[in-house]
Amino acid sequence: MRADLIEVEQRLRREVEVDYPFVGEILDGLLAAGGKRLRPLILLLASRPFDYAIERLVPAAAGVELLHTASLIHDDMVDHAEVRRGHPTLNSLISTETVILFGDYIFARAAMLAAATMNPRVVGVFASTLGDICDGELREIFTARELKQSLEDYKRRIYGKTAALFAGSAEMGAILGNANEDEIASMRRYGKNVGMAFQIVDDVLDLRETTSQIGKPAGLDLRQGTVTLPTMLFFEHNGHDDAKSDVVRRAVGGNGATDDDYAMATTVIRESGALERSLSVAARYVEDARNELCGLPSGESRDMMEALALESLSRTR
Ligand code: IPE
Ligand code: IPE
Ligand code: MG
Ligand code: MG
Repeated sequence: MRADLIEVEQRLRREVEVDYPFVGEILDGLLAAGGKRLRPLILLLASRPFDYAIERLVPAAAGVELLHTASLIHDDMVDHAEVRRGHPTLNSLISTETVILFGDYIFARAAMLAAATMNPRVVGVFASTLGDICDGELREIFTARELKQSLEDYKRRIYGKTAALFAGSAEMGAILGNANEDEIASMRRYGKNVGMAFQIVDDVLDLRETTSQIGKPAGLDLRQGTVTLPTMLFFEHNGHDDAKSDVVRRAVGGNGATDDDYAMATTVIRESGALERSLSVAARYVEDARNELCGLPSGESRDMMEALALESLSRTR
């Protein structure tokens, strides 16, 4: 897919040539620092089994990556994260007011790319996806430090903040490939399931890896009181009334928790097997994603979509 992704990349870079001196350079840095470009890849792949026309796909693919970029800019501000893709975040360099408006500006540029497809249905998917992302991020804020949450609450949150864009990207690809309604719905479910697995793995990496490995602050979920699947499964397995659960509760609660508390909480969650159990849940989503591919003709497109689903599980950054 490299050649097609390069076209997407060129469109993306052209779209964000902003002439605010300082901010423009930071944005350039953010894009140049990499990023896996998974959402545009999913969009292209979901079109490939159908009527694949790269020139029709480029604006949409650049649009979903730019929507992702804008959501990261706002997410890092909300999370008070200092590093992204191994570089300082916008919010660590410029004022909150500027970051909010700049993020909005990037959201608008992303919407213009969706509009450039001249396909009203794609614009509709873009709009509802943006709504879902905001919904997921808001739910995360409103449920922070709250241990009495159900698995359903968690799933709803990660669907919104992450899986919705994977689902929307796949759906846009299928729509622009003139797939039929069943095929569009199936590609959307494929994207959704990959996205659910992807966010669960993200939540595992946050507790398992180092900041230099993931290029963003490790251990931040506990510190900001975001209750993720590993934490939920820790309590489910460990119970609520021993010294180990005390330390995790203290970390999630935040009130007066020390660096030692966070380190200890991370250790007891790791040692409880909760990370492995979370990965098993993610693996089930990957299986669901792969099942959606059964209806496609066997061949390169299907193989790549399968490989992408598996990669979302085994990734380490
Ligand atoms: C980060 O997404 C935000 C999440 C949904 C976890 P990615 O892990 O795709 O970030 P980049 O684009 O590769 O940096
Ligand atoms: C992803 O959630 C949020 C969005 C991209 C909207 P996280 O807060 O877990 O993402 P990272 O870990 O900062 O990349
Ligand atoms: Mg974050
Ligand atoms: Mg995360």
